[in-house]
Amino acid sequence: MSRGITVTMRMWRGGASRGTLPAMREAFERVTTERLLLRAVSRSDVNAVFTLHSDPETNRFSLTGAMTSMDEARHRTALWMEDWAQRDLGYWVAERREAPGDVVGFGGLRYKVLEGLLVLNLAYRFSPRTWGSGFATEMARAALDLARRHLPEVPVIAIIHPDNVASLRVAERLGMRLERHVDYEGTPNRLYVPGER
Ligand SMILES: CC(C)(COP(=O)(O)OP(=O)(O)OC[C@H]1O[C@@H](n2cnc3c(N)ncnc32)[C@H](O)[C@@H]1OP(=O)(O)O)[C@@H](O)C(=O)NCCC(=O)NCCS
Repeated sequence: MSRGITVTMRMWRGGASRGTLPAMREAFERVTTERLLLRAVSRSDVNAVFTLHSDPETNRFSLTGAMTSMDEARHRTALWMEDWAQRDLGYWVAERREAPGDVVGFGGLRYKVLEGLLVLNLAYRFSPRTWGSGFATEMARAALDLARRHLPEVPVIAIIHPDNVASLRVAERLGMRLERHVDYEGTPNRLYVPGER
């Protein structure tokens, strides 16, 4: 997992790779899949961020638990917007293409430092009303394809709680494989990486 980290640390700091980043932003910031529009998180998404993240059902396995205030939603939205502004990559909002404006989930890729290594963290969180529809798999597949094409030197990972059966199932459907177990902020978790293609 240590390949190309010098290059990616430069990206993280907004250094020498800066010249290539606008093209990357173009590739990532607005993506359509069969049923979803995936677009960079913006200020207008703060209510949707709160709705999804304040639901205890969607936060059963999150370390911080469900959001309880709009301030937290504003803070999270600002953090994700900053990813796009600083690094031309960050989490998406997922809208149903057949119902524009209907936000059903969040996720995609975000830079993260794990055990001193720069990685792309793959995440997905969808509204319970859509669970089982394959949306998480559809979004994550688009993210993995783009990462493979545009950022092949940065390792992609997914950290999943061993009891989060739906999330494990999504990783399996994507052909990801369990690399090892990790202690993630004091909790035992599984580290998944993309499978060979
Ligand atoms: C994980 C999550 C995003 C999956 O969303 P989704 O849109 O239902 O995902 P998909 O429909 O693409 O696939 C879900 C798979 O898990 C299975 N699944 C869902 N709930 C399950 C459960 N409780 N037990 C076993 N399997 C389950 C589904 O059957 C499906 O697999 P299948 O197609 O082989 O039948 C959704 O459950 C969620 O938002 N959870 C809360 C946030 C979260 O935990 N995110 C992951 C953090 S690592």
